[in-house]
Amino acid sequence: MTTHRIALIPGDGIGTEVLPPACAVLDAMGKRHGFRLEYQQFDWSCERYAATGSMMPADGLSQLAQFDSILLGAVGYPGVADDVSLWGLLIPIRRGFDQYINLRPIRVFEGVPGPLREAEGTDIVIVRENVEGEYSEIGGRMGRGTPEEMAIQQSVFTRRGITRVVDYALDVAEERGKNLCSATKSNGIIHTMPFWDEVVAQRCEERPAITWGSEHIDALAAKLVLNPRRYDVIVASNLFGDILSDLAAGVAGSIGIAPAGNINPEREHPSMFEPVHGSAPDIAGEGIANPLGAIWAAAMMLEHLGHDEAADQVVEGIGRLLATSPVRTPDLGGSASTQEVTRALLEIL
Ligand SMILES: NC(=O)c1ccc[n+]([C@@H]2O[C@H](COP(=O)([O-])OP(=O)(O)OC[C@H]3O[C@@H](n4cnc5c(N)ncnc54)[C@H](O)[C@@H]3O)[C@@H](O)[C@H]2O)c1
Repeated sequence: MTTHRIALIPGDGIGTEVLPPACAVLDAMGKRHGFRLEYQQFDWSCERYAATGSMMPADGLSQLAQFDSILLGAVGYPGVADDVSLWGLLIPIRRGFDQYINLRPIRVFEGVPGPLREAEGTDIVIVRENVEGEYSEIGGRMGRGTPEEMAIQQSVFTRRGITRVVDYALDVAEERGKNLCSATKSNGIIHTMPFWDEVVAQRCEERPAITWGSEHIDALAAKLVLNPRRYDVIVASNLFGDILSDLAAGVAGSIGIAPAGNINPEREHPSMFEPVHGSAPDIAGEGIANPLGAIWAAAMMLEHLGHDEAADQVVEGIGRLLATSPVRTPDLGGSASTQEVTRALLEIL
């Protein structure tokens, strides 16, 4: 029987509440499809940072390198600055393991009351560049506290970085509706974004079967709200993709359902899967966190590990639960607990 070794990083707050449901679903699918998951849990978190001064040990990446995949809950803890968790854990893992694709599927499920009238049937995949772009360490601050104080932050766009994310997005578009939209802002950002556009155009011209277009991020954000169904696959830089995918998750009704995969397509390193949401300190400890985002993230992990049928069944099960069952957490207008939703999904599966 195939065994996959999974590193679990529950993190903080509701991150620790949504990973056990994800593991319960993974184990159930393993039993049905004849594979086994072996977990090792790490306490790397903001809580650990508050106690020890670091989010993870110095050899954290080499510990994780032994695993087939990583499943993360969420990090963030009152009193610990948000950039500490991002730069002390998430970004080192994404960059250290060259997880240059951030894949975010967004679906408006039947039975989920979203904020929009025209969103039913929306089914989008956002392919976000995950290791360069606007989230760069290059820059600095000068003259702190003086009237002349200044900050400079450089964006980094490379031909290799743009090429590989666009090629990945084209592959996703080829498997789906053959329709790709590239997010740009080349009217305002006059060096990096025209470069992005040029490389996107070069790659897309080599794939004539795919219809593609380029839209300025501001107009794209408005159209994503006004008519989300017109989009299929969107490719975007690190910052634009980050913002667009949370916007699209909001369009879909709840951030509690949305998953993300941080993927190293060459499989030289483990990929990391996580719900899009954070540690939600406002509801942490109440047992009412929506586990579906973490469970969908686990399904993405199954697909990455080669269990496509099991992954599809989990996503279909989530769809059936939302369409047919009143058992849902308060973020979706229900009164069920995390455990009750997990049990209801396991029954459907
Ligand atoms: N990848 C990550 O680990 C990640 C992502 C985003 C935010 N964060 C961190 O999380 C902390 C809180 O950030 P925030 O409040 O901006 O975002 P958040 O996603 O934690 O919460 C935003 C709102 O959505 C609700 N929510 C989120 N997930 C939910 C779920 N599964 N079920 C029900 N309701 C849910 C919360 O209760 C809250 O009202 C911060 O420290 C932030 O840095 C971490």
